[in-house]
Amino acid sequence: MKIDQADVRDIAREFGTPVYVYSLKILRESIAEIKALAPVVRYAMKASSNSAILKEMLNQGIKIDAVSVLEVQRALRAGFQVKDVCFTSDVFFSAGDAEYCIQNKIMCNCGTLGMLEEYGRTVQKRGAGGEAVSIRINPGEGTGHSKKTNTGGPYSKHGIWHENLDEVKRIAKQYGLRITGVHQHIGSGGDLEHLKRITHRLEEFAKQFEAVETVNFGGGLPYEYHPDRPQVDLSGYQPILEERLKNLEAHFGRKITCEIEPGRRFVAGCGYLLGEVRALNHTFDETGKQLDYVLVNVGFCHLIRPMAYGSYHPIWFVGDDLGPEQDLIVAGPVCESGDVLTQKDEEPLPRKLPLPKPGDLIVIGGAGAYGFAMSSNYNTQPLIPEVMVDGNQLQLARRRQTLDDILREEIP
Ligand SMILES: Cc1ncc(COP(=O)(O)O)c(C=O)c1O
Repeated sequence: MKIDQADVRDIAREFGTPVYVYSLKILRESIAEIKALAPVVRYAMKASSNSAILKEMLNQGIKIDAVSVLEVQRALRAGFQVKDVCFTSDVFFSAGDAEYCIQNKIMCNCGTLGMLEEYGRTVQKRGAGGEAVSIRINPGEGTGHSKKTNTGGPYSKHGIWHENLDEVKRIAKQYGLRITGVHQHIGSGGDLEHLKRITHRLEEFAKQFEAVETVNFGGGLPYEYHPDRPQVDLSGYQPILEERLKNLEAHFGRKITCEIEPGRRFVAGCGYLLGEVRALNHTFDETGKQLDYVLVNVGFCHLIRPMAYGSYHPIWFVGDDLGPEQDLIVAGPVCESGDVLTQKDEEPLPRKLPLPKPGDLIVIGGAGAYGFAMSSNYNTQPLIPEVMVDGNQLQLARRRQTLDDILREEIP
């Protein structure tokens, strides 16, 4: 099996396993597809923030949505300019965040009334005024591949509730803030039709703020993880955004900037997680049926999505003499029963796969978004390397952690 022109066995030999591998070819294709959707496209860098990925985004004219000040600084270090980075802090500013952004002229997108108030107080303290700021609005409904990634509606902590916009105006007036940006992001991995439908709400919200220059429709572009199903067609989104923009420009009688900020759809498909089959095991259920486990050196410390959300990822085994397809449960090295790559609703879900042997490789697809970015040192598993593939060229973009790396911050 190849990733771009590189054989996965060569990659595994050169870098060891487990290892994250990203195809620049696939990344560039998705960047081109997404760039066509809106005049300004940001990358929600939380999805995968290795500087090799960020630099590719920079080279292709993509801007950045950062969700922490350290993400802001990471983007700046990768070469982005201050004007290209927007800081959508989650639901509060950590100490010093508002000060940092004002001092460094980073555009802030405030996701609660309290944040807007703190931003205003910080502006006032510095003796400044007329500061431009953006607000994130919760339109009252949302979508996501899981309830955990739905960021709209009453059960999401995110955004200024859509009925509280008079309060926004009051705070803005009190502190002399100009609301130049309005933003909504209703969830990750949800329904494109829902995303399309809800764009009209942002248009309505934006019309309430005289100083608006930018409307940001958020991320949430879906990605189909099943390789045998058609990829979600995004082309219908662009005309809808264009229509919203036209309406707003007609309303205000001036140019307005339209933005989106996807993460997943940019990088999910370009990322693969390579591991090795280490052992086989089996159990018997209450009916006497045998359950076959393939045990691999890749677990939820490396890719948490199956464990956290029951997410599906395509799996391929690579070996010389794979056996016939049979129902297999693929599980990892973490000392916890939930460490299963093939699962749904907290239960192992056997999948028809060719039976591998210890020493064969496992390749997990769709691993580029929220893969490495959500990995951890649980069970003292080191963070694993990231490798960029460009044609047949391999470039190490992060080395494997060592135990010394893990222990470095400990105070004995
Ligand atoms: C504020 C914000 N914008 C954009 C995104 C990107 O979402 P997605 O990766 O689904 O495009 C996220 C992630 O949930 C987010 O929190």
